[in-house]
Parts: sequence; structure tokens; C-alpha cells
Amino acid sequence: MPDRRKRVRRCLLCGLRRTNGRRKPPFRSNSRIAFIAGVPYNTTPRGGAWDSCGDSAIQIAEKIIRRRFVTNKPFTVHTSKHPTLDLADLLDRWNALKFEVDSKLDDCLQRRTADCPDRLREAMRYSLLAPGKRLRPILCLLGAEALECSPSMAINNAAALEMVHCYSLIHDDLPAMDDDDLRRGRPTCHIQFDEATAILAGDALQALAFEIILADAINPTTAAMSCLVLAKAVGAEGMVGGQMDDLQAEKKGGDATFLHAIHARKTGALIRASVVLGGIAANASSEQLEKLANYGDCVGIAFQIVDDLLDVEGSSENTGKRTGKDHERGKLTFPGIYGVQASRERAEQFVEQAISNVDAFGPAARPLKQLAHYITARSH
Ligand code: IPE
Ligand code: IPE
Ligand code: MG
Ligand code: MG
Ligand code: MG
Repeated sequence: MPDRRKRVRRCLLCGLRRTNGRRKPPFRSNSRIAFIAGVPYNTTPRGGAWDSCGDSAIQIAEKIIRRRFVTNKPFTVHTSKHPTLDLADLLDRWNALKFEVDSKLDDCLQRRTADCPDRLREAMRYSLLAPGKRLRPILCLLGAEALECSPSMAINNAAALEMVHCYSLIHDDLPAMDDDDLRRGRPTCHIQFDEATAILAGDALQALAFEIILADAINPTTAAMSCLVLAKAVGAEGMVGGQMDDLQAEKKGGDATFLHAIHARKTGALIRASVVLGGIAANASSEQLEKLANYGDCVGIAFQIVDDLLDVEGSSENTGKRTGKDHERGKLTFPGIYGVQASRERAEQFVEQAISNVDAFGPAARPLKQLAHYITARSH
């Protein structure tokens, strides 16, 4: 039998040593730590080393968060317009955050759809974990980071945003809406399954989004506020209203003012909410939230302008969806009203405006600025 009294444990995070039995451990529970940190349980180190530094579960969770999310890579590459904003580093960071988001989404599906019909779960999984950009959750995590808060404090909100976005895509592709058969490089949900299953998978993802924010809440007040902001953004006055206008404009057309309103609602509202939900998770002040919201408004419009442009100029291989469809369906789009060149210039103006809205946050907002820059540079 090994002599347990002499075993020395070292905290895997801070390196402090504790001889077994010398000090009474403070409250610790790896599942609670994992829960607070927003990481899968099986990624937390085992063996009781955590308590040697005397930190509480929350403090340990914060250390995990910092260790997992904060990269110390310098942003060194330069461009002429924005000397410190290059995309090279952003892509590494993007992939790291995407990994965190996907783990969280997978975990949510596993934990919260265990007792649902297999076909429904499969359809939800098929669409939610398909290879999308995860733009909205990443905006949310970077929104929190811009306020010097660990991004993973916003991981529940981030997951919820992707769920709502994914539901909107599933419904957007239905025959009664845009009638698309390709999404994220795969058959759309209703093609892979059937229409009824696709409708229900979308419904379930929307409900799950709100469940995740509330059930996994770190702070009930900020969780409630996040639900309110998200509900407003995607409801009748936001995304769903924008989708209605978008469909009606196919038949009755519209002018530039109507076009702006459609894009602001169908795409802009959720993108605005994405950064705001990051700010809420970071306990932002109302002035800070306003700046984030203004940034989100500009990025949202720019994003949809580029989506319209990619439908004209892009390829299915790059975008993972059919191109040339907006014109075919008579959609009201930026290139349709302004032409390709002027649309691109407008998108770039919105990006510049977005960047200036987060200037006040200093270096912590650099990833948000890079991301805005990426919006017009993207090819998918
Ligand atoms: C597509 O959104 C729908 C729009 C609002 C333009 P994304 O281009 O973010 O789609 P995914 O999530 O990467 O598939
Ligand atoms: C979709 O806009 C907006 C929402 C899903 C709310 P689009 O119809 O332009 O998106 P894509 O081009 O199908 O991805
Ligand atoms: Mg549409
Ligand atoms: Mg569509
Ligand atoms: Mg489109």
C-alpha cells in the first residue's frame, strides 16, 4: 500500500504544493468548476490538485477560462489602412473560439435532448453542428473580451445565439421561404430529413437557446436580461419581422429605405444582439452596451451586404450554399439596388463605422475590429 500521508499534490494551474492531509481543502467540485468555466467536464484535471491553491470553484473556473481563451500571440502583421488590423491572427483565434463554441453546442445537445425523439435530435444535431462560421457566438465572446472579461463567461449566450441562428437558417431554407437545397455544404435540413422534421428541429433549437441561457446561468440577472434582448432581436420586430418583409419584397419590391430596414432586421438584429449579449455577460455599463450595439448594427448591415454580393459573385464551393438565387427569386438586395461596386463600398463604410464605435475600448477591442475588417474580406 502506498503511504498516502506523504503524497504531495501540485495544483495544475498555480503550481502550489499541498501535502495530502495538511490543509483542509476548500469547497471544490470538478463538475461545478467545469460548469462555471463552460468547459466539458472531462477536460478538467482530476486528482484533487485544484484545491491546493485554496481558491474557490469560481476562482479556479476563472483560471481555466483565462488559460483556455486568452492567447498571448502578438498581432504583428500590418496593413496600410489599419496598421494593427490584419486577419492572419484573427483566423487562429477564430478557430480556437469556434472549438470552444462547438464543444459547448455538442455538450448542450447531449445534456438537453436525451429524452426527445431520435429523429428530432438527429435533425437538430445535423444542422447545429454543421460547418458554419459561428460568427454570432464569436462576436458574443469577443464582445465580452472587449470589456476585459473572460470570453467564457459569455459561452452560454454564445451557444444560444448559434442555436437561434441555426433555427433561422433551417426555416429560411424551407420550400415556403427561400426553397434551398444546400446549406453549409450539405443538403438542407428538410432535404436530409423532411419538411415537418425541419420545422420542428428549428422550433426546438429556438426553445433550447433560451433554456441554455437560463438553465446554465452563472448570474440569473444577466441571464434574464440576455433572454429579453435575444427575444426582442429575433421576434416580430426583429429577425422574424425582417424575414416577413424579405418575402413580401419578392412580390412587391421596394426602395433603398425598405432594403436597409429588411437587412437591419433580418440579419442586423441578431448580430447586434450577439455583441450586446457578450457585453451583458461582462456586466457592461449602459454606455458600453450602446457602443457594442452600434458596432453590431454596422457589422450586421455590412455582413448582409456581403452575403448579397456573394450570391452574385461567389461560388457554391466557397459559400456552401447555392448562388445566383436572389435574382432568380426577385429578392430586394444591395447589388440589385446599388450595383456591385457601390454595394462593396457601402459595406466598407459600415465596417469603418463599426471599428470607430469600439475605439474607446482600447486594445481589448482589437479582435472585434479585426472581425469587422474580415466581414468585407470574406469569401464564404
Ligand atoms: C447566413 O449566415 C445567413 C445570413 C444571415 C446571411 P452565415 O453566413 O453566418 O451562415 P453560417 O452560420 O456561416 O452557415
Ligand atoms: C437569411 O438571409 C436571414 C436569416 C436566416 C434570418 P438570406 O436568405 O440572404 O440567407 P442565405 O443567403 O440563405 O444564407
Ligand atoms: Mg432568406
Ligand atoms: Mg436564404
Ligand atoms: Mg443570402
